[in-house]
Amino acid sequence: MLLSTVTSWLAIFLAASLRNEQHPSAALPAPLQFELRHLHAVSSDAQVVFKDVQRSDALSATSELSSYALRSRRIKTRRPSSPDAFDRARVRSMRFRETEAIDWDEIEVEGPDTEDRETLLLLAKMTNNAYLSPGEQGWYELGEQWNVSYPFGWEPDDDGFRGHVFATPDNSTIVLSIKGTSAAFIGGGGPTAKKDKFNDNLLFSCCCARVDWTWTTVCGCYRGGWKCDQDCLEEALIEESLFYTIGTNLYNNLTYLYPEANIWMTGHSLGGALASLLGVTFGTPTLAIESPGEKMAAARLHLPSPPSDQHITHLYHTADPIAMGTCNGVLSSCALGGYAMESKCHLGKSIIYDTVSNLSWAVDIRTHTIVNVIEKLLAEPWPPSVDEGREVPEAVAEEDCVECFSWDFGDYPAK
Ligand SMILES: *[C@@H]1O[C@H](CO)[C@@H](O)[C@H](O)[C@H]1NC(C)=O
Ligand SMILES: *[C@@H]1O[C@H](CO)[C@@H](O)[C@H](O)[C@H]1NC(C)=O
Ligand SMILES: *[C@@H]1O[C@H](CO)[C@@H](O)[C@H](O)[C@H]1NC(C)=O
Ligand SMILES: *[C@@H]1O[C@H](CO)[C@@H](O)[C@H](O)[C@H]1NC(C)=O
Repeated sequence: MLLSTVTSWLAIFLAASLRNEQHPSAALPAPLQFELRHLHAVSSDAQVVFKDVQRSDALSATSELSSYALRSRRIKTRRPSSPDAFDRARVRSMRFRETEAIDWDEIEVEGPDTEDRETLLLLAKMTNNAYLSPGEQGWYELGEQWNVSYPFGWEPDDDGFRGHVFATPDNSTIVLSIKGTSAAFIGGGGPTAKKDKFNDNLLFSCCCARVDWTWTTVCGCYRGGWKCDQDCLEEALIEESLFYTIGTNLYNNLTYLYPEANIWMTGHSLGGALASLLGVTFGTPTLAIESPGEKMAAARLHLPSPPSDQHITHLYHTADPIAMGTCNGVLSSCALGGYAMESKCHLGKSIIYDTVSNLSWAVDIRTHTIVNVIEKLLAEPWPPSVDEGREVPEAVAEEDCVECFSWDFGDYPAK
């Protein structure tokens, strides 16, 4: 009797360990299931608004992807011990050029598994869908619906930051996806109303988007030659850009709705840059896709920098002139559209697909679209990575990245 109980226990135990050996993946934690909860947007008076998505909405009924299974893994992140101290340090740095050390908590949270291609692919799709309203054609499955005029994240006539909020059924984890557009800067007739896309140039160009003498600059800080007045630049940015302010409001609204949740950020293009800036501010795990270099913007916005920003992951490829910071020069496709995207250094770590070398892609602004990332980069394992036993390139910090090297930034008051 006793003996037979022991043997059957042993049999169960052996069977279980055998199973684990044969399927090591059975030991991985189950992916988190996310469903769409809200749409978010910015109203004409620059307020964040949310719209709830009901399960019965056209979207859930028609969408093939009504649930997103993302793998997670534990990562370390840094969070300011006190948000007030963060704000104080920022204001002091802006007003008086004084640095105030603040305390950061190192915490461990679940973040998206950025080594898992399927997880990156689904996050990219969640970001893509941020371009669309529920039920609208093109909600992923995109299929035939996209072409070269597909939005690439810089739509001057669009209505500001939009995107979606996804949640697990128990509300324990939230994904905030952000689609950025330049019109987000338009504060409903405020001082920036006429500036539309030129505000992007304020954040991501070296000196007020002075590309050459034919350009109307977006701020008056250019001082001849390669000289640019630093104070002037920062004042212009802080006074005229709602970019970061809208983002922090969005985040605060979300933590109000979901006080206990672990929040992840994702975004494409300008939305990716915003996701990253919020990621360093609030210590949230972040995936930014094809974002322009936002490190310079973080400095110009005087964001106190955490001791480590490795919880931010960028993903981009080398043929995208916006992410690479080569969207400049008088005759480039970007300049012809009125953009000067010259910043190139990214915060955190970057997963870089070298499509120029490996796929012989030409550098072209049309490769910047999220659909291109979904269909061409993430649909299959990346062959050069497969050679190293991985599915996606390894994320690495951008060391020795130099920004705007020909410019001289300093104290050059206007005459
Ligand atoms: C791309 O799609 C849009 C909207 O469906 C359409 O208006 C436009 O003509 C298309 N452009 C090309 C080049 O096919
Ligand atoms: C999750 O949040 C929603 C609000 O978006 C709420 O209606 C729902 O009851 C919450 N679910 C749980 C399990 O807390
Ligand atoms: C978001 O937060 C702002 C500022 O706290 C508040 O005025 C606004 O009502 C909030 N919006 C939503 C949708 O919760
Ligand atoms: C691209 O990568 C694959 C896999 O590593 C390799 O076999 C191929 O030669 C590469 N192509 C070029 C043009 O480097």
